[in-house]
Amino acid sequence: MKSIHMAGPWITDHEISIVEDAMRNGWYENRYDYVEKFQKEFAAYHDRKYGIMTPNCTTAIHLLLTALGISEGDEVILPECTWIATGAGISYLRATPVFCDIDSENWCLDHHSVEKLITSKTKAVIAVDLYGNMPNYDELVELCTHHKITLIEDAAEAVGSIYKGTRAGKFGVGSVFSFHSTKTITTGEGGMLLLDDEQLFERCMFLRDHGRKGAMYYNYEVTYKYMPFNIQAALGYAQFQRIDALVGLKRNQLKMYRERLIEVEDIYLNPEPDGGVNGAWITALIFGRSHKLNKDDAIKKLAEMDIPSRPFFYPLSSLPAYPNAKSKYESINQIAYDISSRGINLPGSAILKENQVDRICNGIKKIIGVNC
Ligand SMILES: Cc1ncc(COP(=O)(O)O)c(C=O)c1O
Repeated sequence: MKSIHMAGPWITDHEISIVEDAMRNGWYENRYDYVEKFQKEFAAYHDRKYGIMTPNCTTAIHLLLTALGISEGDEVILPECTWIATGAGISYLRATPVFCDIDSENWCLDHHSVEKLITSKTKAVIAVDLYGNMPNYDELVELCTHHKITLIEDAAEAVGSIYKGTRAGKFGVGSVFSFHSTKTITTGEGGMLLLDDEQLFERCMFLRDHGRKGAMYYNYEVTYKYMPFNIQAALGYAQFQRIDALVGLKRNQLKMYRERLIEVEDIYLNPEPDGGVNGAWITALIFGRSHKLNKDDAIKKLAEMDIPSRPFFYPLSSLPAYPNAKSKYESINQIAYDISSRGINLPGSAILKENQVDRICNGIKKIIGVNC
C-alpha cells in the first residue's frame, strides 16, 4: 500500500525547462530576469500595481510592517488561528500582537472581535485567508477605514481564492503570498508582497536591499537583505503559468473529500462561499461536538490506520511562544479555542490519488463510528 503524503508539489517538464533556462542563461545582465517577470505578472494577475518577491512570506510581512513604520508601542491585530509567521514580524519590530477571535463559519478573523480589540495604539490589522477561506472583507474593510487602521492581507494560503469577484491578494494596502514547498504554487522557499501605493513600494524596495538607492555601495540606512534568487523565481514563474491547473487540483481534492463525506452528519469542511471561490490550499475538517472527538485523538486514530493528518492551527495565544497570553485571551476568543480543538488538516499533496481519498474518508467515518 502506497503511503499517503500530507503535502508536496506538482512539478512538470515545464518547470524543469524554465529552471534550466535560468541556470544556463540567468546570469550577468539577466541575473534577475525571472524575478522581474514573475513579480510583474503575479502582481498584474492580482490586479496590483507592484510585486516584490522575497526569500519567503515571513520576510514579506516583516518588510511591509517595517515600511509602514510599525514599532514598539504599536498594536497589530491578527487572528488566533494562523501560522505563527503572520505575527512574527510584529514581534521582530517589538510591537504588540493582539489576537482576535475567528468566525465559526469561515474560520478567519471575526470583524466583531477585531472591533472590540481596537485601542488608540492599534496601527494595523492582518487578515488571514485561512486554508483558502476568506473573511468577511466587506465588513472588515469598512471597519478599518472607519477607524483609520491599515489593513494587510495575509494570502499566504489563498492563491486562487476569490471573494465576491475580487481575488485574494487585492485587499488592504498590501498582501503577501507564500511559495513554501507545501503551497499550491511553490518555489521551495519564497514569498511575494503585492502593493498599489508607489511610495510604499519604493520604501519596501529600499528596505529589501540594504537601504541603498542610486549610487553603487552607498547606503542610507541599515536595513535587511531580503533579495530573492533568480532560479527560485524561475520555478515560481513556471508554476504560475500553470496556476489554473494547480488551483484546479486543490479544488478537486476538496470536492472529492466533500463528495465522500457529504452524508456524514456534523462534520465541516472548508466552505465554498456564495459568489466566491475557495482555492482550497488545504482541506480542513472540523468534527462537530456530537462526535466528542478532539484533534489529538483523531490524528492518533487515523495514524493507526496509516492515514496522516495534521492539527488545525493552535490558537497563537495558547503557545509557549507567547507566554502569559492564554490567560488573557482564552476567555475572549472562545470560538478559536473551540474550533481549533476539534479540527484537523487532511492530506493534500499533488500526488494524492482518488483511492487514497477513499481510504482517508473511510478512516474518518470509522473513527466517528459511521458504517462505510
Ligand atoms: C498564513 C501564513 N502566513 C505566512 C506564512 C509564512 O510563509 P513562509 O513559510 O513562506 O515564510 C505561512 C506559511 O506557511 C502561512 O500559512
